[in-house]
Amino acid sequence: MTATASRASGKVAGSLGFGVIGAGLWGRAHAEVYAASPYSRLVAVCDLDGERAKALAALYGARAYADIRDFLADPQIDAVGIATPDAMHRDPTVLAANAGKHILLEKPLATTQDDIAAIVEAVGRNRVRLMVDFHARFSPPIVVARDSIRRGELGDPVSAYYRLNDVISVPLKMLSWAAKSSILWFLGSHTIDTLRWLLDDEVAWVHSVSRSGVLAAQGLAVPDIYQTLMKFRSGVIATIENGWIVPNTQPNVNDIKLNVLGSKGMIDIDLTNNGVLQRFLPDRYDQPDVFVKPQIHDRHSGFAYAAIYDFVERLFFGEDFVSDLRDGVNVSKTVLAIMESAEREAPVAVEL
Ligand SMILES: NC(=O)c1ccc[n+]([C@@H]2O[C@H](COP(=O)([O-])OP(=O)(O)OC[C@H]3O[C@@H](n4cnc5c(N)ncnc54)[C@H](O)[C@@H]3O)[C@@H](O)[C@H]2O)c1
Repeated sequence: MTATASRASGKVAGSLGFGVIGAGLWGRAHAEVYAASPYSRLVAVCDLDGERAKALAALYGARAYADIRDFLADPQIDAVGIATPDAMHRDPTVLAANAGKHILLEKPLATTQDDIAAIVEAVGRNRVRLMVDFHARFSPPIVVARDSIRRGELGDPVSAYYRLNDVISVPLKMLSWAAKSSILWFLGSHTIDTLRWLLDDEVAWVHSVSRSGVLAAQGLAVPDIYQTLMKFRSGVIATIENGWIVPNTQPNVNDIKLNVLGSKGMIDIDLTNNGVLQRFLPDRYDQPDVFVKPQIHDRHSGFAYAAIYDFVERLFFGEDFVSDLRDGVNVSKTVLAIMESAEREAPVAVEL
């Protein structure tokens, strides 16, 4: 790229060339932002399924690749957005780092200790910049809660409760790769990252229980739900719930309840039924999304898109990211500890 820029000057020149790896549901969001931001241009799209890559690239006049090595050899690509399935983040990330590309990696960073180590090694050795897309850090109620906690308005944090579930159509219909992931990777990673960020703390140990049966009866061999007790290094105790079997009739795809109790105050967030917009139609009732990724005029908006725009801008201006490699690593290691705890039915220390 040939950028001469500083936010202070208000003037920018040049833009970053971007590529997208994984042209599925969320890769489309990345492509839309890279094409729309004044600080980036979408150069190319890569997907193992060449037809998918072509279809997405064609929307923006970008190049399409089925072979990631050819894609990464494209000198016009400065940075990539990686939106491959949860368990398939390692190879594209390591190859992109080896090719010297900066990376916005979808959550979770990785799903095994080996994959975590390989990504940390490649990113460190190649000195590329990486953000993990924990987009809840851009959710307005969560940001306002964090600012309040930081200002000490709640006193000392004492405990937290965070329930983040999906309706059952997400594992059964939306994600073709759900069997190789779990609610812990898909949403538990957000839950843990958000609590770490709100409390500015790391999880010391976890004790988790899980149940299986509902999804297994539908042919999907992953747990239905995890309930986890955790203690942070500061002493804060938290209970989190992550489940994948909420009935589809719930008006929001996510079931979200978050409470942080401090020595002087408390914050309570209910994003499941936020009541901002209720729609009563002849045949159904719903609450359309207004926070995560609503279409505003001709462009997607909301915090899920804000996170991607923010990555582009901070990369362009050389600023620290809102979530980085260490956040991704520590969250993935905490999820692995929760899985081990649920399996052994015993407390497990989180080794970071
Ligand atoms: N679906 C969502 O709402 C959502 C939201 C935020 C984040 N995410 C995260 O984004 C990631 C992708 O999710 P999705 O829902 O878009 O999945 P998806 O199945 O819709 O798309 C994944 C795409 O990646 C391609 N792919 C797989 N391995 C590849 C490889 N090695 N190289 C190139 N292409 C490859 C597949 O062919 C597929 O087209 C996941 O980690 C998920 O947790 C998803």
